Amino acid sequence: MMRTTPAQLHQNGWRRQAAALVAVTGLVLTMLVALANPAQAASTLGASAAEKGRYFGTAIAAGRMSDSTYIGIANREFNMITAENEMKWDATEPSQNSFSYSRGDQIVNWARNNGKQVRGHALLWHAQMPGWAQNLSGSALRNAAINHVTKVATYYRGKVHSWDVVNEAFADGGSGGRRDSSLQRTGNDWIEAAFRAARAADPGAKLCYNDYNTDGINAKSTGIYNMVRDFKARGVPIDCVGLQSHLGTSIASDYQANIQRFADLGVDVQITELDVQQGSNQANIYQTVTRACLAVARCTGITVWGVRDTDSWRSDNPLLFDGSGNKKAAYTSVLNALNAGSGGGGDGGSTSIDTGAWYVLVNRNSGKALDVYNLATNDGARITQWSRNNGNQQQWQFTSSGDGYYEIRSRLSGKNLDVSGRSTADGGAIVQWTDNNGANQQWRATITNGYATLISRHSGKALEVQGASTADGANIVQYTSWNGANQQWQLVRVG
Ligand code: G3I
Repeated sequence: MMRTTPAQLHQNGWRRQAAALVAVTGLVLTMLVALANPAQAASTLGASAAEKGRYFGTAIAAGRMSDSTYIGIANREFNMITAENEMKWDATEPSQNSFSYSRGDQIVNWARNNGKQVRGHALLWHAQMPGWAQNLSGSALRNAAINHVTKVATYYRGKVHSWDVVNEAFADGGSGGRRDSSLQRTGNDWIEAAFRAARAADPGAKLCYNDYNTDGINAKSTGIYNMVRDFKARGVPIDCVGLQSHLGTSIASDYQANIQRFADLGVDVQITELDVQQGSNQANIYQTVTRACLAVARCTGITVWGVRDTDSWRSDNPLLFDGSGNKKAAYTSVLNALNAGSGGGGDGGSTSIDTGAWYVLVNRNSGKALDVYNLATNDGARITQWSRNNGNQQQWQFTSSGDGYYEIRSRLSGKNLDVSGRSTADGGAIVQWTDNNGANQQWRATITNGYATLISRHSGKALEVQGASTADGANIVQYTSWNGANQQWQLVRVG
């Protein structure tokens, strides 16, 4: 078995010398690595989900963050964070038009500083409304609600992966209709007004409708389904449906079919608040949920509603870690299901290119982001992959060069992705270089199922992670296009 590593190739001066060697053996090596690791057994929930193009998240309570066991597990296992209470209306606008973000920021900043994304929860909800809003009705309440959406979504613009724009607005039971609430009494269009305001405030965030008891096909989930279908038909901006999935000792047999029918409307589905009653069926139900999400390409991630059983809002030990922080059988069943599952997801991957946006380019194989190594700003600095942290060294903007080609510019350095030395060889290094309009700085982007391939105009070769590495610091090179997962990139809009 050939043992030449990417690092050795690099040290040996592969940029100029190794074309022949790499041309003959490199493709084979790359394919062997990829085939040998079709589903690498990742050892944490977040890493395993990322390998499948998904995220795995948890809810965090600001008051628990100083507990080292708690925060240690959260940091190790999860790559999506929801504030359990700190971004709700009562927390963020305690008196009218006076906003308080300190506790929300505590969670958002911790998440971002640790390379995690954030689900915003929740802009409008009939519960946990501040006292002053509970005393409003009619147009005064409507105006206050829309102002709240606008102000909070604007404040967090660029930092939130998905917002629960409206939470729990449908009634339980068989009606399939809206829940009665003061918000509903402002007029049936309050939900779409909220979604439009959220889109205007943060065009980069996915906008979700979130609810519970919607996990199977039933009157309530069908009412939501009909609303989403209507929104899509009329162009009301909605991107995702959140299934909270607070579950007992059984799970609807049509759980996956329900996810699928929402996905078929053209929205993502996210499992947003998963917890499952302790009992002999707990691990099985967790596994069923995980498998169902992985089986639907547009089910883009799962969030559990807390870290340890003792952190839960429920008293029936519904989470993945016990009170001491030990992994439960439910944890193992989820991790195994993730590791065995199929790819897809395409979480966060844009389906078209907006030249005004900033994107993080996440590699499909490694889950890591295209990164200017060591925050360099000089010409010739190498481009690598690194664990995603959304820093400026991981943000890129596309500028059209015509004919479907783009220059790809670093937010950190202002320099372009460049095939070093105008190489046409497999393994040719990708660096950053001052814009010179050269064909070696132009890339044709083709997006399929949420993943882009980027082909050099100069060489006709694809941008890839060398050797299908999953390590931080692995080199980005050009290579003959073979549609490998290491040649596919999610374009995740962050600004
Ligand atoms: O922090 C105060 C504390 O100072 C006070 O002494 C104590 C007295 O009861 O209350 C504490 O606040 C509690 C807060 O959680 C923080 O622990 C509130 O009473 C309590 O109502 C609040 O519960 C939250 C609940 O939403 C409110 O409806 C839960 O933590 C939170 O997990 C739960 O989350 C909801 C989702 O947002 C929406 N979907 C359902 C889900 C579960 O109910």
